[in-house]
Amino acid sequence: MADVRGLNHVSIAVRDLDRAVELYRDRIGLEVREQEEIAERGVRLAKLYAGEVCIELVQPLSEDSPLGRSIARRGEGLHHLAFTVGNLDAMLAELRERGVPLVDETPKRGAGGSRIAFLRPEALAGVLVELVEPGESDSAAHS
Ligand code: CO
Repeated sequence: MADVRGLNHVSIAVRDLDRAVELYRDRIGLEVREQEEIAERGVRLAKLYAGEVCIELVQPLSEDSPLGRSIARRGEGLHHLAFTVGNLDAMLAELRERGVPLVDETPKRGAGGSRIAFLRPEALAGVLVELVEPGESDSAAHS
């Protein structure tokens, strides 16, 4: 059975991560907790917090990447919602079985040792949604 346990983060696509971190920190006081580069996904990201809610700012490492092309088409802004799930393999198997349109048929590596998979926007009323099975390092923050 689908096992969504909470909102993991809200993701915002940005052209310049350092600049965006300054904006969210200095203009509305969000707390910066982590920054990480994930070469295999071609992104740099920062996690900022509004209370317990994580806002993830994500910058593409190249313009010729899915996120780079997304920013070229639509500009910066809200990119996806991510939900925490208990068992990503089980959830993906269930979604595949039900014919839900998926971007990722199998999990890939996310930030902080997590495992992630994206659903296609048409699966959930036009919103790109990521499912996250937290890794050791961030299970406490999102449990
Ligand atoms: Co995300």
